[in-house]
Amino acid sequence: MLGGDDPARAMLAVAAVTTVVAALPRAAAWCADAAWWDLAADAAHRPALAAELLRVTAPSPVLPRVAAGPGTVGGCPVRAGDRLVLVARHAVRAHVDDPDCRRPAAPALAQLVFGAGPHACPGARLARAQLEDFLRVLAPYRPAVVRARADRRAALPAWASLIVRPEVAR
Ligand code: HEM
Repeated sequence: MLGGDDPARAMLAVAAVTTVVAALPRAAAWCADAAWWDLAADAAHRPALAAELLRVTAPSPVLPRVAAGPGTVGGCPVRAGDRLVLVARHAVRAHVDDPDCRRPAAPALAQLVFGAGPHACPGARLARAQLEDFLRVLAPYRPAVVRARADRRAALPAWASLIVRPEVAR
């Protein structure tokens, strides 16, 4: 069982499960609202669509960090021990550039929602693959969002429930 008595397992659950549970429904809902199911059904566009949707919906908008050594961040000098709040959401321009799978952000930029450097998320490829699969399976039904309810207790931005209605019966 995962819990406070096993911090390593609990951390992995947050890193690997909570992030995905938070991100995937929000990404699919964006796809539905934008009526992008044709793009989601198209194997040529789907990887870029998934990467772009994760760029704007990844539940890691802010990364608090402590500098291990001196360096520069965005041109600002940083000393060892400095506390940093890295606004990943702004770094990937999620606040100004909506997802566009025909003109996706450069992969190195979009990757920043998964961190950078030696501790970058090892699950990034899996998360993208999961979203691609999710979009592929949903696409034929062209679901529309009926209702979304925020999860007020979640550690990450997430929904308690997301109700969708298939626009195409199979
Ligand atoms: C949408 C899904 C996900 C997002 C947005 C996400 C995001 C992140 C971020 C921002 C970090 C910190 C990186 C840094 O410090 O530079 C991280 C670390 C980590 N992630 Fe993910 N992640 C996701 C899915 C996953 C999955 C599916 C797994 C495993 C199967 C996973 C495993 C981990 C682990 C183990 C770490 C710690 C790495 C380390 O400290 O060396 N993540 N993730």
